[in-house]
Amino acid sequence: MIILKNPDQLAKMRSAGHLLHDVLAQVRAFIRPGMTTMDVNAYTDELIRKGGGIPTELGYEGYPASVCASIDDEVVHGIPSPEVRLEEGMILSVDVTLALDGWQADSAFTAPVGKVSEQKEKLIRVTEECFWQGARAALSGNRIGDIGFAVQRHAESNGCNSVRALTGHGIGRHMHEDPAVPNYGEPGHGPRLRPGMTICIEPMITLGKWPVHQLADGWTIVTNDHQPSAHYEHTVAITPQGYPEILTLPGHDWKGAQA
Ligand code: MF3
Ligand code: CO
Ligand code: CO
Repeated sequence: MIILKNPDQLAKMRSAGHLLHDVLAQVRAFIRPGMTTMDVNAYTDELIRKGGGIPTELGYEGYPASVCASIDDEVVHGIPSPEVRLEEGMILSVDVTLALDGWQADSAFTAPVGKVSEQKEKLIRVTEECFWQGARAALSGNRIGDIGFAVQRHAESNGCNSVRALTGHGIGRHMHEDPAVPNYGEPGHGPRLRPGMTICIEPMITLGKWPVHQLADGWTIVTNDHQPSAHYEHTVAITPQGYPEILTLPGHDWKGAQA
């Protein structure tokens, strides 16, 4: 069941989204070679709580940390560890969900650790572009499949592949609501987008092939071919006017967008 949000509820989700943006901007600037993924977790957790939020990944279905920190061939759900040290040349995906006043926001980015290969730089760029291609399609009256089609087409036309085993999702009072938002698909298929829908669009894109598997830790998802993978996610509302508002990107304005 898709839960539509009224303007008051959208305003609360906007506040949560803006807090998460503020947190992630600081986390991005904090990342450097030599620190561990547990350092990233601790810093993020502290920023969320200072902002009055609750890190809702912690304890979610038993997940043991406040962020997901996934390196190179790890697609998503990497568990932060004091044993995992960031080294120059790696790419790190950080995915965070928080709640503010009972409303969730969910966003992720992939950052280079120091200087990385041109291929990895391209992967990060294409993944962000895939998000924007998907977001541009998130108009009232379109369908969920229009988003996935746009993401997949952009990935494949740039020599990358879109991971299929995981999807974006609705979001609201709960981190995960209906509908599923796949990063592949056919135009004109799936649930219709309506004003008041709030969804996470989160392309997971790899330089290799799309099949993935889960590690024995029960969480970490890695590419089967061990090619690097990147992740980029925002929480998006379909506004009463019918256009997509990026709740986790304050100040974004489609008029100025060059997506
Ligand atoms: N933030 C993730 C998402 O994009 C969910 C993380 S799984 C958790 O849907 F276990 F870490 F919470
Ligand atoms: Co997320
Ligand atoms: Co998500």
